[in-house]
Amino acid sequence: MLGLNLAMETTRRHTVFGAVNHHALKTDAFTVIQTDLLVPGAVEQLLEEIRPDWVIHCAALANLDACETDPLLAQQLNTELPRTLARSVARSGARLVHVSTDSVFDGQRGDYSEGDIPTPVGEYSRTKLDGELAVAEADPTAIIARVNLFGWSLTGNRSLAEFFFNNLSLHKQVMGFKDVLFCPLLANDLADLFVRMLERKLSGLYHVVSSESLSKYDFGLRLAQRFNLDGSLIIPTSVTESGLKATRSPNLTLRSDKLADALGAPLPRLSTGLDKLYTLYQQGYPQMLHNLELH
Ligand SMILES: NC(=O)c1ccc[n+]([C@@H]2O[C@H](COP(=O)([O-])OP(=O)(O)OC[C@H]3O[C@@H](n4cnc5c(N)ncnc54)[C@H](OP(=O)(O)O)[C@@H]3O)[C@@H](O)[C@H]2O)c1
Repeated sequence: MLGLNLAMETTRRHTVFGAVNHHALKTDAFTVIQTDLLVPGAVEQLLEEIRPDWVIHCAALANLDACETDPLLAQQLNTELPRTLARSVARSGARLVHVSTDSVFDGQRGDYSEGDIPTPVGEYSRTKLDGELAVAEADPTAIIARVNLFGWSLTGNRSLAEFFFNNLSLHKQVMGFKDVLFCPLLANDLADLFVRMLERKLSGLYHVVSSESLSKYDFGLRLAQRFNLDGSLIIPTSVTESGLKATRSPNLTLRSDKLADALGAPLPRLSTGLDKLYTLYQQGYPQMLHNLELH
């Protein structure tokens, strides 16, 4: 979800190469390179081929339940691959943005800043935190960006926004967690922020999230409102009643003032992201993404 949206946004002003593994893409918008980054030597070969100025690392095992089922793959993709990549990028002289997650915190408190000690719960969170530490050690100039995002995706069902949109469009009832709080940012807006961070030569750890926090239930309601869908189909639910396999952290709200200070402007609010999500929808962007995949 993130990589494709970043590529689509940044390709307007930059030359973009997008690495894919299982999802073969056909597009003239940027150069697609098929590679399994876990194959020994693949990272080095990719960097040698492209010789990039900037690398934005989005590949991960980002499905929480999949990480619980296959902790070894989670460790390889979320910890070892970032370590290898950061070492190689540092050697090449390129600048790296490593994408991490708000889930490095246990969500018991919320309003976390970059100085707070992470307390990960579950395989996804643990392996992502280890990935952060590995990157910081291998390349101290790297940007480590903790994000939470929504947007349109290749498969059409990757993000929470799509979950609400798809179900509400079919007039289906869905659960909305009242007790899970977060600061989601539109994936497309992350592109602009990452580019500005790279242009300003920032390095180190940053929270790159919306300046607004809300519950997942309220997110669903706000989306329903923006898309003129029936918000009463969203049933306010507690996450403890949901039966999900991996534990969800209740309050993952992050402070983003460190980045706002560095950029000299506050980070986008949710309404801006939802307006853009709607505009993209009106422009046929979700269908355009879907058509990129070679079936
Ligand atoms: N989604 C969220 O809400 C969220 C929240 C917080 C943080 N994040 C972080 O944001 C980043 C992007 O997440 P996302 O939601 O965009 O994840 P995603 O949609 O699951 O995408 C992950 C990508 O990793 C690629 N990949 C996996 N194994 C690979 C391999 N061996 N070689 C090459 N590519 C490989 C996949 O490529 P193929 O599909 O081609 O296999 C896929 O495109 C991750 O670091 C995640 O931890 C996401």
